[in-house]
Amino acid sequence: MIDIKVETANGSHLELKIDSDENRSLMEILSTHDIGMLAACGGLALCGTCHIMFKSGGDNLPPPTKDELAMLEMLPGAGANSRLSCQVMLSKKLNSSNIKVMPID
Ligand code: FES
Repeated sequence: MIDIKVETANGSHLELKIDSDENRSLMEILSTHDIGMLAACGGLALCGTCHIMFKSGGDNLPPPTKDELAMLEMLPGAGANSRLSCQVMLSKKLNSSNIKVMPID
């Protein structure tokens, strides 16, 4: 089980308990909840509407790819702890992480 605390784009909070499934992205999980995530490109790292910020717990993840970094550089409000949730695959490394869904401008 993977526990993730989520602050939504409108500032509300929820805690997700996810069965470990290595073949799905974090975006795919977040999109099933009403948290204001658009994920317009469907996970191709082309739109930036799945932008999340790790408040904690992102340190052990594989680093962003060149394509993910290129998209993040174009997003307002992006920082060192930003990720595209469509590029973050579910793993136990996400357990106990705390993320914020970034608003779409
Ligand atoms: S869904 Fe478009 S960049 Fe992640």
